[in-house]
Amino acid sequence: MTTALVSDRTAPLSLERHHFLLRRLHSLTGIVFGGYLVVHLIVNATIAQLGKNDVYQVQVQKIHDLPLLWALEWGLIYLPILYHTVYGIVITFTGQPNLERYPYPRNWGYTLQRISALIIVAFMIFHVFALKYGWFGTTLSFDPHNASGTIGRHMQASWFIRWFIYPIGITASCYHLAYGFWQAAITWGLTISDGSQKRWGFACVGLFILTFVCGMVALVAASGLDWQKLMTNPTGTTEVHIPV
Ligand code: HEM
Repeated sequence: MTTALVSDRTAPLSLERHHFLLRRLHSLTGIVFGGYLVVHLIVNATIAQLGKNDVYQVQVQKIHDLPLLWALEWGLIYLPILYHTVYGIVITFTGQPNLERYPYPRNWGYTLQRISALIIVAFMIFHVFALKYGWFGTTLSFDPHNASGTIGRHMQASWFIRWFIYPIGITASCYHLAYGFWQAAITWGLTISDGSQKRWGFACVGLFILTFVCGMVALVAASGLDWQKLMTNPTGTTEVHIPV
C-alpha cells in the first residue's frame, strides 16, 4: 500500500521533464542540420567558379571520397532532420506547452517559421529524391562524377524548377535556419537579456544574408551553365580526374 502514498504530482512532473529533453533534442538536431545547410550552400556557390578547373566538381569529389559517407549522411543529415521534422510537427499541432520562453510567441517571426518549415519539407522531398535517388527521371538526377553538368541539367529542365521551386525553397530554408539559430540561443540560455537577443538577432540576419546569397549564386550559376558541354559522358560512367 505504500505506493498509494506516492504524490500524484510525479506523473506530470516526469512528463514535463520528458518534454524538456525532447525539446532540447529538437533544438540540437536543428543546429546540426543547420550547420550542414550552411556548408552545403557555401559549397554549392562554387558552381559559379567554373573557370580553368571545375571547382564544384572538386568539392563534390572531396565529399564523396569521405570515409563512411553513408554514416555521416545518416548521423548528420537524415536522422537529425527526420527527428526535427517529426517533433516540430508534434509541437505545432499538439499545442504542447512551450517550456522555453520565446518573446511574443504569436508574432510574424513565429508564424513564418512554421510556414517555412512546411515549405522546406515539400522542397526537400523534391530536391533529395530528384537529385540523389533519380525518382523524377534521369534529367533531374545528380551524378557526382558529372557534378556541374548534371546540376545544370537539373536546373534547366524547367523554368518552374529554376524560378519557382528553388527560390522559394532557398528563401524558406535560409529564413528558418536564421530564425532557428536565434531561437536556439534562447533555448540554451545563451541570450537572456533583451540587448543580447537583439545583438544575436543582427548576427542571425547576417547569417540569413550569407546563406541566401550563396543559394541564389548557385541557382543563377547553375541556370546559366552550358551543361551539355560539361558532361564528360551523358551516361555518367566516366571518372573525372581531379588535379591534386
Ligand atoms: C541552389 C541551391 C542548391 C543546390 C545547387 C543543391 C544541390 C544539391 C546536390 C547536388 C545534392 C546531392 C549531393 C550528392 O549527392 O552529393 C544535394 C543534396 C541535398 N540538399 Fe541541396 N542544393 C541546394 C539547396 C538546398 C537547400 C536550400 C536545402 C535545404 C533544405 C538542401 C538540402 C539538401 C539535402 C538535405 C540533401 C541530401 C544530403 C545528402 O545526402 O548529400 N539543398 N543538394
